[in-house]
Amino acid sequence: MTWLVTGGAGYIGSHVVAALREADMSCVVLDDLSSGHAEFVPADVPFVRGSILDAELVRSALAEHQVTGVIHIAGFKYAGVSVQQPLHTYEQNVTGMAVLLKEMQDAGIDRVVFSSSAAVYGTPPTDIVTEDTPKNPESPYGESKLIGEWLLRDQGVAAGLRHTSLRYFNVVGSGSITLYDTSPHNLFPLVFEALLAGRTPKINGTDYPTPDGTCVRDYIHVADLALAHVEAARKLDEGALLLPAYNLGSGDGVSVRQIMTAVAAATGIPFEPESAPRRPGDPARIVASGELAARDLGWAMRHTLDQMVTSAWQAREAAAA
Ligand SMILES: NC(=O)c1ccc[n+]([C@@H]2O[C@H](COP(=O)([O-])OP(=O)(O)OC[C@H]3O[C@@H](n4cnc5c(N)ncnc54)[C@H](O)[C@@H]3O)[C@@H](O)[C@H]2O)c1
Repeated sequence: MTWLVTGGAGYIGSHVVAALREADMSCVVLDDLSSGHAEFVPADVPFVRGSILDAELVRSALAEHQVTGVIHIAGFKYAGVSVQQPLHTYEQNVTGMAVLLKEMQDAGIDRVVFSSSAAVYGTPPTDIVTEDTPKNPESPYGESKLIGEWLLRDQGVAAGLRHTSLRYFNVVGSGSITLYDTSPHNLFPLVFEALLAGRTPKINGTDYPTPDGTCVRDYIHVADLALAHVEAARKLDEGALLLPAYNLGSGDGVSVRQIMTAVAAATGIPFEPESAPRRPGDPARIVASGELAARDLGWAMRHTLDQMVTSAWQAREAAAA
């Protein structure tokens, strides 16, 4: 059994590769390095450089490495940018997925685990998001992830594809000193880059209807997230029935101000964050129940918030050294 990890040179993909190796599961990475890093792929893991949009490349990678299942993580993940670049977002996330699924079907590969997102829910009308909460994406990015889930559902009916989609909430932390989030838009990298450059980190929006006025999110550790992928892949290999989608969330909300306090403690850099205007489209609160994933995928929060912040900072600092 060999699992192809698309996007395996990225932040989450590289942690999934590490978890697969830890579980003695064979894998191969396909990544175009548009936002990933070749050095995130271990030297002894086969690495195919190229895009999921390149049908011929995907076909030869599946055949050459005798792939039996796909963990599809590659994608364009910047919700804000997707509003300005919807066509690019749809091409990468929807067309790319259709190409991948067609090549899988032709190769007789019948199992896939997909990186979906909390963005499929938009601004949820409820305190705790469950898998049944209405889907109301508010960006082309969120729409593209929901369409990805529909593609899997439809291929399931048409071609017997066995699949599950993991809807991540806010993924943070580092599972290894050499792997970290390099996104220019996510909260942790933004705060760290500010601190490393001697600037004061900003909080966008301090007048939300939340206990301290700042947005509340559901933070999960990337290494915990990676384990859920291994379990999903294992379950599909065993022929187990999985739900079409699982929330990977903690059930607990943490505010941006609480994150800033944890960052100050972890870095030893005392700072008072600057207040900045709200960003359009940022909901006040998104927190999810991960109960179904706990039941079916052994999902658990194995790390505390302090561990998330400290591990992320240590990896970022090591990269800067
Ligand atoms: N980081 C989060 O908090 C979060 C939350 C929800 C969902 N997700 C989803 O998880 C996935 C991984 O996110 P990440 O944070 O690791 O981002 P990332 O940008 O670090 O990783 C994405 C990887 O996919 C690769 N890639 C992009 N387009 C490709 C293509 N056409 N062909 C081949 N490779 C391609 C990139 O080079 C990169 O290595 C994405 O699909 C994202 O939408 C992330």
